[in-house]
Formats: sequence, C-alpha cells, structure tokens
Amino acid sequence: MKIYGQHRFPGRLFVVEGIDGSGKSTQLSLLQQWLASEGYGTFFSEWNSSPLVKDTTRRGKRKRMLTPTTFSLIHATDFADRTEREIIPPLKAGALVLADRYIYTAFARDVVRGVDPGWVRKLYQFAVKPTIGFYFQVPLKVAMKRILGGRDAIKYYEAGMDLDLSEDIEESFRLFQARIIEEYEKMVEEFGLTVIDATRSIEEQQNEVRAQIKRKLIGVKKVRVQRWVNLSSTVQGYRG
Ligand SMILES: Nc1ncnc2c1ncn2[C@@H]1O[C@H](COP(=O)(O)OP(=O)(O)O)[C@@H](O)[C@H]1O
Ligand SMILES: [Mg+2]
Repeated sequence: MKIYGQHRFPGRLFVVEGIDGSGKSTQLSLLQQWLASEGYGTFFSEWNSSPLVKDTTRRGKRKRMLTPTTFSLIHATDFADRTEREIIPPLKAGALVLADRYIYTAFARDVVRGVDPGWVRKLYQFAVKPTIGFYFQVPLKVAMKRILGGRDAIKYYEAGMDLDLSEDIEESFRLFQARIIEEYEKMVEEFGLTVIDATRSIEEQQNEVRAQIKRKLIGVKKVRVQRWVNLSSTVQGYRG
C-alpha cells in the first residue's frame, strides 16, 4: 500500500480528536456548516464506519472474541478502506475532508489495551497526514458530566470493560478514559496536534478552530466559484 504521509492533494484534511464528551462532533458539525456557507466542498468521514468491517466488529464485540491485536487490525482494515474510498478521492478533487476521530484514536485506545506503540504506528503508516489535527483537551470530570447528562448507558468496550479495570461500568469508564487522556497528552508533541481548550464555550472554541483553519485555506478552490468558472468557459466555448 502507498505511504501518503504529507499529502500534495489540492484538498485539506482536518481531524478532531479527544475523549468522549470533549465536544468533537459538536465542533465539527459547526465547522462543516460554516465551510459550506463559505462555498467550500466538504466531506465527512467517521471513525469505524466502513460497511466492510461493521458487521465483523459488531459480532466480535457481542461475543467478546476480539483480542487487542485483532481489534487493532480490524480497525486498521476499516481505516484503510476509508482512506481509499472516502479520504483520498475528495482530497484529490480539492475538497475539505473532515474526520471525526483519526489514527490518534487507534494509537490511544490500542496502546491502553496493551498493543505496542511502535507496532500500531507502523500499521497506520499509509495514513494521510492531516492538515490540522485538533485535540480537544478536557478534564475527565467535565467530559463525564456532559456525557452522563444527555445519554443512555455506557457501552462495554467504550468503558474498557475488557481490561478488567473495575466491575463497575462507570468506574471502569473513568479509569479507561483517564488512560486514554495520558496517551493523547503524549501525542500532542509527537504529532504536533493543535490543542483546543475544550472546557470553554462552544462558540469560543469554534472561533478558534475557524481561525486556525482559515489560514490553511489559501489556494483552496470554492465549489461555487469553480462552477461559475466552468460555466463561463462553456459559454466561451460556444462563442468561439
Ligand atoms: N463547550 C461545551 N460546553 C458544554 N457542553 C458541550 C460543549 N461542547 C459540547 N457539549 C455537549 O456535550 C455533549 C457531548 O458533545 P459531543 O460533541 O457529542 O462530544 P464528542 O463528539 O467529543 O463525544 C453534547 O451533549 C454537547 O451538546
Ligand atoms: Mg462524537
């Protein structure tokens, strides 16, 4: 498989990372609305969403048959599929790809589950390097409060119950997420993630995210403008 690293495609790749409840999806959806209103072509890609592996993970999880290594390989398979189908083509077409979680999620979760950090990084070496990787930094307490406020029960793997940290699912979730935070913190420098103080208001954070992104949009074509250009060249073609 090709190693993309720092890409030279005309599009841009923006990713959001952070623990559950850090506000990633909220920020990404506001970002998408803004970029679309500005005339840019945007494309969403979500972690672990490929139809290719969805059934396998669901069955494996239900029967609790997955070891950390098989888990890691399945997620990498999903990601490879999405890279080829959902990430590279829009980047080639000059679109802005917005990813809700990216390879750093795999690095954090798999390492907490005991997978070797070097091995998992190598596994994902085909990944496209994001234009900006945002890390929504938030204390566990704040994230927990947000999650428990508006959601149903925490799921088995989400709470890291497979790690036997605690019999109590909420306590297990707390311990698991605390370890995930530790991994994220290590990755800030390693991968040059852009830290966003996610304790602030939704609006304050969105303003900062937009300001960071704006700087990376120089030279990116807007869809509206592109259509107009195409149309005028067609008209010119008729005239000529
Ligand atoms: N800055 C914020 N302040 C207070 N609540 C927030 C903030 N950002 C998000 N929320 C709320 O917290 C919950 C989790 O947000 P979400 O965007 O789904 O997080 P994530 O995608 O990181 O799990 C949602 O109910 C959301 O409305
Ligand atoms: Mg989310």
